Amino acid sequence: MQRVFSGIQPSGIPQLGNYLGAIRNWVRMQADHECLWCVVDLHAITVWQDPQTLRRQTRELAAALIACGVDHRRHILFAQSRVRAHAQLAWIFNCVARLGWLNRMTQFKDKAGKDRENASAGLYVYPDLMAADILLYHATRVPVGDDQRQHLELANDIAQKFNHDYGSDFFPAIEPLILGPAARVMSLRDGTRKMSKSDPSDQSRINLADEADAIRLKIRRARTDAEPLPAEPAGLAGRAEARNLVGIYAALADLTPDAVLAEHGGKGFGAFKEALADLMVAVLAPIGAETRRLLADPGHIEAILAEGATRAAALADPILAEAERLVGFLA
Ligand code: TYM
Repeated sequence: MQRVFSGIQPSGIPQLGNYLGAIRNWVRMQADHECLWCVVDLHAITVWQDPQTLRRQTRELAAALIACGVDHRRHILFAQSRVRAHAQLAWIFNCVARLGWLNRMTQFKDKAGKDRENASAGLYVYPDLMAADILLYHATRVPVGDDQRQHLELANDIAQKFNHDYGSDFFPAIEPLILGPAARVMSLRDGTRKMSKSDPSDQSRINLADEADAIRLKIRRARTDAEPLPAEPAGLAGRAEARNLVGIYAALADLTPDAVLAEHGGKGFGAFKEALADLMVAVLAPIGAETRRLLADPGHIEAILAEGATRAAALADPILAEAERLVGFLA
């Protein structure tokens, strides 16, 4: 069975892009893979996090993942910082990755913005830690949204250079799995920007715990153009907002964009948005309710994460030990 790894930052309850681009695919892969699902708190602190908030959001995210169908019994759900080997392998990878490679990372440029001098060093070497997350388990398949593609290419470069430098074939190649019509969900307010938990406008995103009324209002207010929906996907060219809503609908209904437009082509956005909101509420309301139910017992969530960390560490430790031996550290 192939081993799968993926991670998500504990910046609160996930948004629809996290769900459709990643989490939903994670849940589906659980049937025929051995999976590790990681709440990446080490990645989160590359930008400032209030300690109390970080703790709360780590629990909230774990609860939301379980509510989405992450199976913490048959698979492993854990917080990154609780398995020390992540930071240890990341250090080795900091010494493998080249500055030139990191300089090309578009996410660093986006996140650091104009005030680059004031960004943390952690934000800069973030992709090295991500490579360590995956390779620490010799995981070969990584389901992510489209925005993580460049980081996974870098992880493969790191694995190859490590293998080459240390004359081994120790680290396997990673296959990014960027799946479905919603691998890049865009903001509801601006079809050229990614939907994101960190967008200042709550109207720009659907949060998995949003109540039905909030979901309906956000969809109704979502930016669109004045044309009716086209009959086929080619007609979405140059219409970023329309394309986004059709992609979201397709992913939620498990249809192709073709099939969605075969049904809704020719309609105005008023009717389409009503149908989309109904569908979204039907999919998300049970997830929100289950998340709230699980969060009523935070101790239980913490126990699940602690058990996951123990099981993850048992897989990671021998692989870290072998990497260290290859590097030349004393046993
Ligand atoms: P993060 O926390 O930003 O996002 C978690 C997952 O959600 C996907 N995603 C989206 N997909 C579609 N549309 C969107 N608007 C959207 N926004 C987010 C992301 O692509 C991701 O799959 N660096 C990673 C976390 C990470 C990781 C890893 C992932 C750390 N180590 C190892 C895979 C393997 C991140 O910040 O994801």
